[in-house]
Amino acid sequence: MNILLTGGVGYIGSHTAVVLAQAGHQIVLFDNLCNSLKETVSRLEKIIGSSIVFVEGDVRNTELLITVLQEYQIDSVIHFAGLKAVGESVANPVLYFSNNVQGTISLLQAMQATQVNSLVFSSSATVYGEPVYLPYDEEHPTNPINPYGDTKLQVEIMLRDLANSNPDWKIACLRYFNPVGAHESGLIGDDPSGTPGNLMPYLARVATGQLECLSVFGNDYETRDGTGERDYIHVMDLAEGHMAALSFLNAHAGFHVVNLGTGKSTSVLECVNEFEKASNKKIALRFAPRRDGDLPIYFAKADLAKHKLGWTADRSVSEMCSSAWKFQSSQSKQ
Ligand code: NAD
Ligand code: UD1
Repeated sequence: MNILLTGGVGYIGSHTAVVLAQAGHQIVLFDNLCNSLKETVSRLEKIIGSSIVFVEGDVRNTELLITVLQEYQIDSVIHFAGLKAVGESVANPVLYFSNNVQGTISLLQAMQATQVNSLVFSSSATVYGEPVYLPYDEEHPTNPINPYGDTKLQVEIMLRDLANSNPDWKIACLRYFNPVGAHESGLIGDDPSGTPGNLMPYLARVATGQLECLSVFGNDYETRDGTGERDYIHVMDLAEGHMAALSFLNAHAGFHVVNLGTGKSTSVLECVNEFEKASNKKIALRFAPRRDGDLPIYFAKADLAKHKLGWTADRSVSEMCSSAWKFQSSQSKQ
């Protein structure tokens, strides 16, 4: 298939690009590089062993998207492009609605104009909000607690209505849990600019010595060891989940919402312990107050992905840490 990956140079898009290209698909990466580096494209070419089509552009540029969809005879789109920093979305909601919602409207207009009707959308477990029960299944009420989550839910609603309007549409909304880890080559991974807000890239930089000490946000939660628990998923499992979703859509029209998680939770201290083993480094930590907006624990019910897509996330937390370490330690040598 010819597959367009918007935001394809970013963290999850680049790993998905590897999986799709290695399975023999023709991929086109479309990205404005607002949160990624062009060098990633050459690193991808190194991993894949062939050249990659990359178009630099903004998803809000409908005309450019129409040209790309036509020129490369695209069959399906995976829509990763968007902004994802919760704090920034609180400070600048208009920026988030513009990139995430307006960007998706522009993409859908381009797809309608070119009659491309197969779409996989990067949604997030953040759409569920405060747990009414756990694990979150796909029927759990949605009630996001920040503008970033609002943009994801609004796009989901728009996609549902679009699929209801025309039976030709094939749409999968994948609700990711906490993607971490890196490709086994160590050439691509999660490399946020500035001080990382998320646990795993922060841990990796403490291990390399770039940051001094991890602040553990809260150790008085009602969890196994008092620290927050999350459903961490290896980014390569997640990438394979996208390929499974595309195959599923080949045979199933309509609108489908699926969790991509492992169904298991890991605490902050358990992550620290695994990262110490993977890196053979001692991680300095201190206990700090709870972070505003954090939930104590959440994780996925992962059964629907298994039944619908025939996909499960099998890589361990230890593999997540060792691949993240391989990537981060090779980055800091450069
Ligand atoms: P990322 O920032 O690494 O990748 C997103 C890519 O989209 C970047 O390369 C960026 O340059 C590009 N982009 C952003 N706005 C654009 C625009 N207007 N036009 C063109 N390109 C644009 O993020 P990621 O972690 O790879 O996330 C990919 C998608 O998955 C996002 O939509 C994100 O909201 C969603 N998601 C991520 C996580 C996570 O923890 N990483 C969790 C749930 C959902
Ligand atoms: C965050 C986002 C969420 C997004 C997800 C995946 C917030 C409030 N939520 O979720 O929308 O979908 O990332 O990208 O930002 N922790 C520490 N010290 C740190 C960093 C994190 O103790 O320096 C703890 C957190 O309190 C939490 C766990 O580690 O218990 C995971 O945190 P993080 O990686 O930021 O992910 P989430 O909070 O789940």
